[in-house]
Amino acid sequence: MAVPSQDLMSTIVSLCKRRGFIFQSSEIYGGLNSCWDYGPLGVELKRNVKEAWWRSMVTNRRDIVGIDASILMHPKVWEASGHLAGFTDPLVDCKACKSRFRADHLDNLDKCPKCGGQLTEIRKFNLMFKTFMGPVEDQSATVFMRPETAQGIFVNFLNVQQSSRLKPPFGIAQIGKSFRNEITPGNFTYRTREFEQMEMEFFVPPTEDEQWYDYWKEQRLNWYKNHGIKSDNLRMREHGKDELAHYAKACADIEYKFPFGWSELEGIANRTDFDLKRHSEASGKSLAFFDEESKSHYFPYVVEPAAGADRATLAFLVDSYDVEGEGKDARTVLRLHPSLSPIKAAVLPLVKRDGMPEMAEKIYKELLDNSIKSFYDHTAAIGRRYARQDEVGTPFCITIDSQSLEDQTVTIRERDSREQFRVAAASVVETVSKKIKVKSL
Ligand code: GAP
Repeated sequence: MAVPSQDLMSTIVSLCKRRGFIFQSSEIYGGLNSCWDYGPLGVELKRNVKEAWWRSMVTNRRDIVGIDASILMHPKVWEASGHLAGFTDPLVDCKACKSRFRADHLDNLDKCPKCGGQLTEIRKFNLMFKTFMGPVEDQSATVFMRPETAQGIFVNFLNVQQSSRLKPPFGIAQIGKSFRNEITPGNFTYRTREFEQMEMEFFVPPTEDEQWYDYWKEQRLNWYKNHGIKSDNLRMREHGKDELAHYAKACADIEYKFPFGWSELEGIANRTDFDLKRHSEASGKSLAFFDEESKSHYFPYVVEPAAGADRATLAFLVDSYDVEGEGKDARTVLRLHPSLSPIKAAVLPLVKRDGMPEMAEKIYKELLDNSIKSFYDHTAAIGRRYARQDEVGTPFCITIDSQSLEDQTVTIRERDSREQFRVAAASVVETVSKKIKVKSL
């Protein structure tokens, strides 16, 4: 049964709250606009998304290493990168109702879209959050919360390259929080003021930038598909010249068909040698790479796939959401890729007696001891228990019934097909491990 797209977002938001994926931040105080907290299931899902990204970008590759840079950086970083002068959105206010809009999101700048009142002139609004380092709140103590993780990679380029003895083409990856004082956050976790990025800067010889740009566009699109997002809901949109950021020679967005329309999920940019050159000029310390073969220095070009962990998590939630059947027979299923599911297996004794709980407890312990995130549930009828697991995307339910006590076998029920098969109780860990095993995706 298809859920109308206008209802889908509110259905997902309420599922997220009810089942402990995502809560509004500081809810008991009325909430803080655009800030969200991940609950027990949400944190598992988002961690799995980040781990899937890290595996495919760092662990499974010989040419990419990771870092974890600090959020606060020297203020000169943001001067050199162009963020202090140029990381702005055009802002207009309504003089009558005081509503605030991004001018580039309005078709008509003559009147307020809410009340028809007069709008102010466009002002440039810098999106960086400011704070002070140390006890004195003056200009010399001003620091910024990073608006992208990328700059932590650029300023560490030579530290990483020399300590790891790498030679272009190679990449440096990072996952971490970024902050932007967005004028119009919204659409749940899609646009927030505090969010997590998954960025990788791939440093290449200047003559190879275009081929690597094409390579990363394809790789990144496939990553979403391989982790279960439907191809029809993904597209690549190349930026027009007028849309390009100040540092980019080319840029493409991977867009996802969210219930509120096609929107950016990830950007892949050819940043040229802009950042390494700017930091070299501003710091007085050259970040040029010394090529042993030609015995000369050069500034590598950079191809950057920049994704959002929160946006990707939201896309996986929306894409996997499905309602099968109608009326009282309807079942809600999150058809998440097993590698992303917050819980991999639920252990369910059919009844709470006759030795079934004891046998179930033993299997549950074995799963946990093997680092397979599992859940034990002996409450309610078995159908209700299956439904609860389907709704949060658990790929396997293991049921212990009266036959289990006789022949030491259990049933494994698969979430998507609802098919059940029997296996020896002693082989549950092995069977589930095989099924959730992450191949190189
Ligand atoms: N270093 C390049 C860069 O930061 P971006 O397109 O501004 O590029 C990359 O950001 C990704 O970060 C976006 O595609 C999106 O997934 C995520 N992102 C950016 N702003 C966000 C926000 N306000 N809320 C949630 N995610 C955001």
